[in-house]
Amino acid sequence: MIFEVEPGGALRGAIRVPGDKSISHRAIMLGSIAEGVTHVTGFLEAQDSLATLKAFRAMGVRVDGPDAGEVHIHGVGLHGLKAPDRPLNLGNSGTSMRLLSGLLAGQSFASALTGDQSLTRRPMTRVTNPLRQMGAEIRTSDEGTAPLKINGTRRLSGIDYTMPVASAQVKSCLLLAGLYADGETCITEPAPTRDHTERMLEGFSCPVRRTGRRVCVVGGGVLKATAIDVPGDISSAAFFLVGASIAARSEMILQHIGINPTRTGIIDILRLMGANIDVANQGLAGGEPVADLRVRAAPLKGIRIPEELVPLAIDEFPALFVAAACADGETVLTGAAELRVKESDRIQAMADGLAALGVDASPKPDGLVIQGRGGFTGGWVDSHGDHRIAMAFSIAALRADAPITVSDCENVNTSFPGFIDLANNCGLGIDSRTGKVNQ
Ligand code: S3P
Repeated sequence: MIFEVEPGGALRGAIRVPGDKSISHRAIMLGSIAEGVTHVTGFLEAQDSLATLKAFRAMGVRVDGPDAGEVHIHGVGLHGLKAPDRPLNLGNSGTSMRLLSGLLAGQSFASALTGDQSLTRRPMTRVTNPLRQMGAEIRTSDEGTAPLKINGTRRLSGIDYTMPVASAQVKSCLLLAGLYADGETCITEPAPTRDHTERMLEGFSCPVRRTGRRVCVVGGGVLKATAIDVPGDISSAAFFLVGASIAARSEMILQHIGINPTRTGIIDILRLMGANIDVANQGLAGGEPVADLRVRAAPLKGIRIPEELVPLAIDEFPALFVAAACADGETVLTGAAELRVKESDRIQAMADGLAALGVDASPKPDGLVIQGRGGFTGGWVDSHGDHRIAMAFSIAALRADAPITVSDCENVNTSFPGFIDLANNCGLGIDSRTGKVNQ
């Protein structure tokens, strides 16, 4: 799928973006191994979270829906999952694979996990190494990638693990394995990462001990079904926060967005650049803070992005690089080597795309240096099948002086179904077609 995006325009309107992807995955996982029926509203009906849902159906869990974001999960209890009769295909979803590897390591049956071309290139030893320390038997390819083959018959023991990378996926994987382990499993993170698993475990009446950067669970407990209201995904809202900031005369309200402090790096970084963002109507939804975000166009300036904000904005850098290209002056990102192992190598893919649109962007092993030029030329960019890169370059067109064409965009559906219609209703001009780009 190719997006052809008209240059110029402004973003206006009050919208809701689809439900949070991280929370939607976790709702299915914890709901499935809980006792009783978990009722979810605001569930993200996108390919990634649906891959998780299908995996649990394949393990015998009855899941009703999704129907307009409503899902009922008939939990089977910690030990009620059944062996799937074929490998679980998780498509493009790293969260599904990494979290499931921990949960499946604790089962009494064998299983295999696979995915698409992008997912089967991503590093998995970050989860398989600590899981082996817990006693799990898991095989990867020689490159340490999927398919993963899990011999679930081993007993797991709790470990005390310090993560070498700040990763909520690794932390969550080990917490899920810890539910099945003998004794206590403790994980220490090098920097704070999203804590949706910890919050949701507590919502399922499972005690979690948190002290600073260390989190512990005790195995052998029971999860009790609950109700979960999934807030709007701040990672999807990010495209509108940036789009409305860079396009003159824009003003948008993004309603009911999750503003968990482990996810709000995008707001902090944009504000440091001079963005005009207000947070209103703060409340709580299922243990997660939510709010309406109002954003208005503002002149942006280049900054040195504080490294401690990197894990708190880890998925928002494609959009933030677009903001940096529109800013006045240089923006420097360091401490973000993780971006190279996301759905694509986001440092290289964004540097190439920015260069194709006239922006001077120098990739570094752990970041990117962007010279703001106040906007973009038109041109063609390759999203490398990465949903967030496709959407980032779509909003770049708001500040381009000729159309921008983005190729390989079908994976926008992994996280943001309806992106084109929602964005177009607010003032973007995306036309999509299938086929190859005529360069
Ligand atoms: C996620 C954690 C992050 C993020 C991903 C979702 C999660 O990955 O990039 O999109 O739901 O736990 P890492 O934990 O690998 O940084």
